[in-house]
Amino acid sequence: MFKTGLNRGFMIAPSLLSADFANLEKEIKAVAAAGADWIHVDVMDGHFVPNLTVGAPVVRSLKPVSPLPLDCHLMIEKPEAYVADFAAAGADYITIHVEATEDPRAVLQEIRRLGAKPGITLRPATPLDRIAPHLAEVDLVLVMTVNPGFSGQAFMTEQAAKCAALRKELDRLGSGALIEVDGGINPETAKECLDADVLVAGNAVFKAGDYGAAIRALKAVKAGSRPSSPR
Ligand code: DX5
Ligand code: ZN
Repeated sequence: MFKTGLNRGFMIAPSLLSADFANLEKEIKAVAAAGADWIHVDVMDGHFVPNLTVGAPVVRSLKPVSPLPLDCHLMIEKPEAYVADFAAAGADYITIHVEATEDPRAVLQEIRRLGAKPGITLRPATPLDRIAPHLAEVDLVLVMTVNPGFSGQAFMTEQAAKCAALRKELDRLGSGALIEVDGGINPETAKECLDADVLVAGNAVFKAGDYGAAIRALKAVKAGSRPSSPR
């Protein structure tokens, strides 16, 4: 089965947004061979964020060619209208924005009912309090360290502090949910995210000449330095 990463170093989820869209199968296989753990798929609707990317049909095509779990980050309004399509397409994790729907709890429960792993995320301007009521429902909490919408933006240092607070809260709940960070991650900024389990990396992997070296450099930041938490 897929790795879960608890009490290990970072898992790395390269974001396809920075990959060569004419060669997604090749790119996925290359990062898998280079040591990546998940594939991060950024889904944007031009409403929730000012950019358009891919939808469930692309996930359906990638599923049979991906040796790694597909981690789908839905930056879309009313995700309730689309989660069934993503689950049927083979999404392993389906992460929704707390700001994008009136009833996040219902959508998270629906994702689980559909057989996928539910995740919750929030914009940098949104306080953690907004997702606190949903932490017991999820397998993944995504902390955005840029404003969602584009790859290649600068890491927002102050957002990384959310990871430590989240780790405390998840431990208090006895939750095994993973913490993921997304936006502007590179071997320098990853040092500020030691409480995270999964690093999303777009440019830091796909714009590097050597994917293996790029992934190893990210993993090296936390090799053996994970504070052990009682889980
Ligand atoms: C931003 C996306 C990110 C982005 C990451 O809205 O959610 O996944 O592609 O790209 P980098 O790592 O280049 O900031
Ligand atoms: Zn993302």
